[in-house]
Amino acid sequence: MAEPSGVDVGAVLILRERSAGESRVAATPETVRRLRARGLNFQVELGAGLAAGYADQDYADAGASLVEPGAGLGAGVDAVLCVNPPAAAVLEQLKPGALVAGLLAPYGASGLVEQLQARQLSALALELLPRISRAQSMDVLSSQANIAGYKAVLLAAAALDRYVPMLMTAAGTIQPARALILGAGVAGLQALATARRLGAVVYVSDVRPAAKEQVESLGGRFVSPPEQEERPAESGGYAKAASEAFLAAQRQQLAEQLALADMVICTAQVPGRRAPLLISEEMVAGMRPGSVVVDLAVAQGGNCAGTVCGQTVERHGVQLIGGDGLPSSVANHASALYARNLAALVEHVLGEGGFSLDQQLEQEDPIVAGCLLTHAGACRFPDLVSGAN
Ligand code: NAI
Repeated sequence: MAEPSGVDVGAVLILRERSAGESRVAATPETVRRLRARGLNFQVELGAGLAAGYADQDYADAGASLVEPGAGLGAGVDAVLCVNPPAAAVLEQLKPGALVAGLLAPYGASGLVEQLQARQLSALALELLPRISRAQSMDVLSSQANIAGYKAVLLAAAALDRYVPMLMTAAGTIQPARALILGAGVAGLQALATARRLGAVVYVSDVRPAAKEQVESLGGRFVSPPEQEERPAESGGYAKAASEAFLAAQRQQLAEQLALADMVICTAQVPGRRAPLLISEEMVAGMRPGSVVVDLAVAQGGNCAGTVCGQTVERHGVQLIGGDGLPSSVANHASALYARNLAALVEHVLGEGGFSLDQQLEQEDPIVAGCLLTHAGACRFPDLVSGAN
């Protein structure tokens, strides 16, 4: 591991996350060491990493100062790294020009954005990071969705009333479980890989043509989108919203697949929009009693009617699991990956003498231009924040 550079280019605060159900932390002892080698020094709030399995002493050993929670938290630092948006009281303490980087949930977040603007803070909203090759090492949505896809299958397997793999026993042969995955993005492809490892036969539906090859390369069977309608357009690796007519045709097509499925993992999304409703109540009623649906899109309104955030409900004998906050349930590795993503972003915006956002904006750096939500008192994505986009 590299040694501290000896040059001081700024102070970074790592907060203990306070959102309900959140166990992750934005930096690990590994990333503290890594960024100290670039001249940053760290203040870590006491207990910040405990829920993710990182002890205070490990941060101290990595060279961080441990700081007490309380009124002065944030005073004098140049950056705050977080998972969820920091408390208003912390933002109040930050000096103008300080950097805030984390999952800031920018869509419709007018209250937070007003405060960031008023305090002249430079906020990097990781949800807005462009999905380009150069930004892959910084892509927290991908690292966290990967974990969610994996955990969703484990939850489904644990709740299912059947074996997942095919088994030949003295009492006869057990057929493998049949999984249906909606959406072949990061979460969906990991769900596919995990379900295959458990021995399921896996069908995957997506609207993007590129998804077919990816699904088949992982041993899945691709459910092509309905042919009679135009497919939703695609931009930057994300699907755009489908028309209601398209979704109606898709639901009709999926009804047959659902009736045969033992487990369904819902991951279909269009960023910044309500998730497409792909399973109606009537379709749930057509499923086999004992089957399981895990809806990862539940926080965006859900792909399946009737799913409730963070709860398991039963409808027509089918268990509907509202799989919210799953990365937090794998907090140690989720934090390790999140922290590495964030460290890569911090390294990207760190110049010789400190953070260099103006220079990167001038050079039209796509990463900074893509995710810098507020800067120098202005909001750079007003439509997105007001909900108009
Ligand atoms: P992604 O954008 O990589 O993948 C979404 C996929 O859905 C894309 O391939 C897209 O083409 C597809 N899609 C869009 N409309 C569709 C339709 N009508 N039919 C079929 N496919 C459609 O997103 P990612 O990163 O895989 O995340 C998936 C979901 O999981 C999101 O809702 C995300 O917010 C959620 N998530 C949930 C977590 C949790 O703990 N519940 C954690 C991380 C992500």
